[in-house]
This record gives sequence, C-alpha cells and structure tokens, in this order.
Amino acid sequence: MTYECPNIMDVILEKTFSDMLMTPFFMNKFRKRVKLRGDENILEFGCGAGNFSRRLVKLIENGKLNCVDISEFWIEKAKNRLKGRDNVRFLLGDIRDVIPKEERFDLIFIHLVLHDIPKSERQGIVNILAERLEENGRIYIGEPINESHGMPVEEIRDIMGKSGLKEDDHYYNKIFPSWRSFNGIYSKA
Ligand SMILES: C[S@@+](CC[C@H](N)C(=O)[O-])C[C@H]1O[C@@H](n2cnc3c(N)ncnc32)[C@H](O)[C@@H]1O
Repeated sequence: MTYECPNIMDVILEKTFSDMLMTPFFMNKFRKRVKLRGDENILEFGCGAGNFSRRLVKLIENGKLNCVDISEFWIEKAKNRLKGRDNVRFLLGDIRDVIPKEERFDLIFIHLVLHDIPKSERQGIVNILAERLEENGRIYIGEPINESHGMPVEEIRDIMGKSGLKEDDHYYNKIFPSWRSFNGIYSKA
C-alpha cells in the first residue's frame, strides 16, 4: 500500500475489504482473547483510516487510545471517523520517532501493519514497541499469512521472540478460503 498518496484501489479496498473484515464476531473474539478490561492505555501502531480504532474505542470506555500513523492522508480519515471521542490521541509520524521516550502502554496493537513494512525494518520496529510496554503489558498482532499477501507465522514468532516476548495465546481467522490471518498475544518473557 502507498501510504502518502494511495491510489483509488487502496481507497476502495480500505472502505470495503477492511470494513468487511471487522465484523462484530471478529471484534468479540478479539476482545475475549486479548482479555480487554476496557480501562487500558493502548497504543495502536498504524491506525490507518481508523477502521480497527473506531471499533476498538467502543470497547475501552474508561481507557485511552493513542493512534499512530505515518500517513497524513490516512490519519486524517481516522480523525474524522473518531470525531467526538475525547479518549483518543492522534500522533502523526514514524512509530520509531513519534512516541515520547518516557511513555509506556498496557497494550500495543499491530493490526495489518507489519507485513506491509520492508522485511529488514520489521525487527527494529517491534524491538521499539516491546520497550514501550508496561511491565505487565501485552502486544497483540494480527497479520495476513497468505502466500499471495502477508507474512509467515514463523517470521512473526521469530520477531516477537527476538524482542524478548513470549506467546501467551494465538488464534486464526479465515475470511475467505484463500485469506487467513494469524493473531498472537505476547507479553514480556
Ligand atoms: C494496512 S494499514 C492498516 C490500518 C489499520 N491498522 C487497520 O487495521 O485498518 C497500515 C498502516 O500502517 C501505517 N504505517 C506503516 N509504516 C508505519 C510507520 N513506520 N510508522 C507509523 N505508521 C506506519 C501506514 O501509513 C498505514 O496507514
């Protein structure tokens, strides 16, 4: 996906496929597996147009959501979709630079982001995210694992392990026969 100047197909896909993906069933499963209490301080890496964020925010009435995205185009859409929510903060910039050094989070969400990042940069980014976790904090990652689009489960597990994280739980979502995602929940080892 082109982040700054997406083409018409990216915009259509975001409005259709991404929206279709996040059904109430999908979000309910996510809430239970992540064991969301609703009062967490959450960092969402790569919020894009806010498709996931606008559903997530409804599950954390007493929490706080910090949405980070490198693309002004997409984050402006997210701001629009989350208008009126006073427990949401938006940070425009690269995840590696934009979070104040002293900030820590209860939960960090990576949803459909890492597979789009060049392979050589993935480990460095997850290392930074792992450093930003509270002592009992957790990272949720959900990524497509299809040969045509996605990244291998082994690579996700390898990156997490090398960042000093252990897998507490995982599950798969199958949207179409040919489209599956891996969802993992990690905490400090
Ligand atoms: C495919 S979108 C996913 C959007 C959203 N998480 C969802 O599930 O609908 C990936 C997003 O990650 C953002 N992104 C990629 N690299 C980034 C980086 N280094 N720092 C912050 N955001 C980044 C892109 O701009 C894009 O909006």
